[in-house]
Parts: sequence; structure tokens; C-alpha cells
Amino acid sequence: MSEIRRIAVLTSGGDAPGMNSAVRAVVFAAVNSGYEVVGILRGYEGLIDWEVRELSIPDVRNINNRGGTILFSSRSERFLDKKYRELAAENLRSHGVDALVAVGGDGTLRGAIELRKEGVNIICIPGTIDRDMSCTEYTLGFDTAANTATEAIDRIRDSSLSHGRCTVVEVMGRKRGYIALWAGMATSADAIVLPEKWDYENSNFDNIINALRKRHVDGRNSYLVVLAEGVTDAGKLAELIQKETGIESRVSVLGYIQRGGSPTAKDRMYGSLMGAYAVEILKEGKDNRIVAIKNDILIDYDITEAVEINNNELDDFQYKLSLALAE
Ligand code: F6P
Repeated sequence: MSEIRRIAVLTSGGDAPGMNSAVRAVVFAAVNSGYEVVGILRGYEGLIDWEVRELSIPDVRNINNRGGTILFSSRSERFLDKKYRELAAENLRSHGVDALVAVGGDGTLRGAIELRKEGVNIICIPGTIDRDMSCTEYTLGFDTAANTATEAIDRIRDSSLSHGRCTVVEVMGRKRGYIALWAGMATSADAIVLPEKWDYENSNFDNIINALRKRHVDGRNSYLVVLAEGVTDAGKLAELIQKETGIESRVSVLGYIQRGGSPTAKDRMYGSLMGAYAVEILKEGKDNRIVAIKNDILIDYDITEAVEINNNELDDFQYKLSLALAE
């Protein structure tokens, strides 16, 4: 790659706590290396419309503790169209940008691969609460989301206990069950329903119903089922539980509460590490890379290889433990 003078940074896809720390670290590392930084607003949408703001160190003060993303985000439909990606690449070129750092999830990575084909030097940072990118052991936002879900479910349990009810709590995670597994285990749920372990063809809830029925007979009077989104309809599951067990049942969909809020120390720390690392590898002349965590160490992969790593398995020991520790 030719000498870097000016880099751009954007956040894209579902906002995730820790994105601000990554942006902050990119700005600090870049400015301290003598580069200019331009922040692209609203993810790939802002790249198409050239909606930007220049960033220097004072612009990123006091943002480590802030949820959301100061650069805003979007899921850009237009970016799926090559004509807009060409426009985005031309915008970067004509404004003298030598490299782009993109923080986001799987969609952001796929967008980056396509933008690379238009000649843009690019580094990605994994940011999504879902922790659903197989190339990395950690994605920014997961820890905060899992903690937020845990706190919310603790509160729901208080109410469930008071009324002697069963509550089916639906959490986010797209096609992965990490938030469900962590929040479910942390709150000692009676059952955790995970996409990785769900038999979609023969879907039935016999195990859950039988377990709840048995506990009911044993004299328990409050129950928690943590359900990963997308597996089944939370309302239908609650209805089924009530019909089959006689336990009064309710639904609580946690929703976007899981995406917001002040990041945990872990998300601030990993955001800072990943942001600084992205600039470091740009300085080494690398591009077309994604920053990742493996064995708790920062590494980087080619973005095209990274997207092909597909491991949808859930750690077996953790899964079995979640069953063994169900209350
Ligand atoms: O990827 C993060 C996430 O919050 C998923 O857990 C959820 O399925 C999805 O985004 C919701 O997307 P949107 O913000 O487009 O409604």
C-alpha cells in the first residue's frame, strides 16, 4: 500500500457497546502517527452520500463510556448495489482517503469485501452484540449485552416469583445463542433454548414441558425460560407451557435494551485494543484484514478468508453445563 496520510473510520450494522472505544482508539492511534482522520456518518450510507466529519483527539474525548455510536449507523440497502459501492470508493479517492477502518458485524464484513473489489484499502473490526462471527472469539458489545440481559432477567424473576408464573424471555443474537446461553446460565434459568441445539425439523418442546411439569409437581412456583430469538415464537411457547402444565405464563421480549447502555470495562478495553491494532497493522502496510481475538490475543485475518470461516457449533461442555445447572 502507498504511504498513508489520511484514513476514514465508520461504524455499520447494529450498534454495539464498545464501538465508541474502537473509534476513539483509531483516532488517537492515527493522529499520533501523523495521519488525518475523517469519520464517516451512518455507516456505508454516509460513504455513498459523503456525509462526514473530520475527527481529531478533542472530538473523541469522553466517549469511552457512551453507548451507541457517535458516528451513527445504518443497514445500507444501497450498498448491495455495485453502482453505489463504486460511488463510495470514488468518494474516498477524491477526498484523499488512503484506507478505511469499518467497525461492524457480518454484513459490514461482507460489504467490506465488495468495497475492496473497487480498490479500497480496508481494515475491519468485529462489532456486534451477537458474537456471531466465527473468525473471532470476541465481538464488541457482547459482554455489555449479556450483562444487560442478565440484569433484566433478574428483575423479571422477581416478578415471576411474586406471581408464581413462568416467563419466557426472548433475547437477541441473530442465528447464534451466545446471549441466551450466558444470560440464561447467569440467571439459573429452568430452560435455555438455543438455535445451535434446536432440531428445526422435528421441533417440539417436550423436554422443556416435562421438566417444568416435574418441577411444578415438586412444589416450585416460578420458572424462567430464556429463548434465543428466531428459534420459535415466544408467545406460542408461553401459550403451550400454560396449556400443557397449567402454569400461568408470560412473555418478555428484551429487544433493543440489549444494544444500548454504557459499555462494560471489557467492551471498552477490547474496543480500545482493536482500534489501536487496526491502525498498527495499517502502518505495517497491511490491508484487506479483519482484527480478531484468538486465545485472548489480537490477530488479523484476510477478510475474504475470515468470512469463509464458519463454525456454528456451541462449546459442548458449556452446553451440557447449562442443562446440568438448570434449576
Ligand atoms: O445484529 C445485532 C442485532 O441486534 C440482532 O441481535 C438482531 O437480530 C438484529 O440486530 C436486529 O436488527 P435491526 O436493528 O435491523 O432491527
